[in-house]
Amino acid sequence: FGRHLKILEVTTSTQEEVRKLAEEGAPEGTLVIAEEQTGGRGRLGRKFFSPRGKGIWMSLLLRPDQPLSCAPQLTLLAAVAVCRAIKTATGVESGIKWPNDLLIGGRKICGILLESVAEDERLRYCIAGIGINANMTEEDYPEELRSIVTSLQMESGQAVDRSVLIGSVMSELEQLYRLYQEEGFSPIAHLWEALSVTINREVTLHTSRGMVTGYATGIDENGGLILENGGEKFTIFSGDVQLGG
Ligand code: BTN
Repeated sequence: FGRHLKILEVTTSTQEEVRKLAEEGAPEGTLVIAEEQTGGRGRLGRKFFSPRGKGIWMSLLLRPDQPLSCAPQLTLLAAVAVCRAIKTATGVESGIKWPNDLLIGGRKICGILLESVAEDERLRYCIAGIGINANMTEEDYPEELRSIVTSLQMESGQAVDRSVLIGSVMSELEQLYRLYQEEGFSPIAHLWEALSVTINREVTLHTSRGMVTGYATGIDENGGLILENGGEKFTIFSGDVQLGG
């Protein structure tokens, strides 16, 4: 992964750059990195703050030979890969909030956006967008974000070598993706659960159908979050977790 590489000074969103390359027939593993995004996108239609030169804003093209329903599994796979890469490259430990935010001390260090394009119920390609808050300091963030985000530099007290970290993310992603292709989702699910800060906790979720509360017991074979409440067991596929009851 990352051997076909395009580095840009500025773009609206690296997701759009990879989409264009994918449509032109670019191979799996094509990576686009930008120093700055003017229209960085997050999950659930949100904006993603991506200022110049301080973070890692990148998107990777995947062409899995899998049904469309596998997309959520790849989302969780990407979170595990980045979490492991951050630990390897910087020594900093983060936890995964379902489905794929990486947090340190409850603050966001990385966001992941997996978008997929399908054809006849099969995945034609996926774009794994990864945004890592690498070398920002408190002053780089607008006031309204300061209490909910952090950066690797703020956590470790030193600037992170972005190239080293990108290399580590690519290598973890490639290994886990191979494991997934060979052995399926189950080993990925176990790794995800071990790194998660959502499992074995009382959580509240904002979903399209309103607030849902329950005790998170695990993830199912599709990457959905399994909750228990008053003896009832149910699975959530999309939403925003708030930790705590
Ligand atoms: C989220 O936290 O909701 C997901 C954030 C994903 C951000 C990355 S940065 C690189 C890629 N380009 C985008 O516009 N978004 C993703």
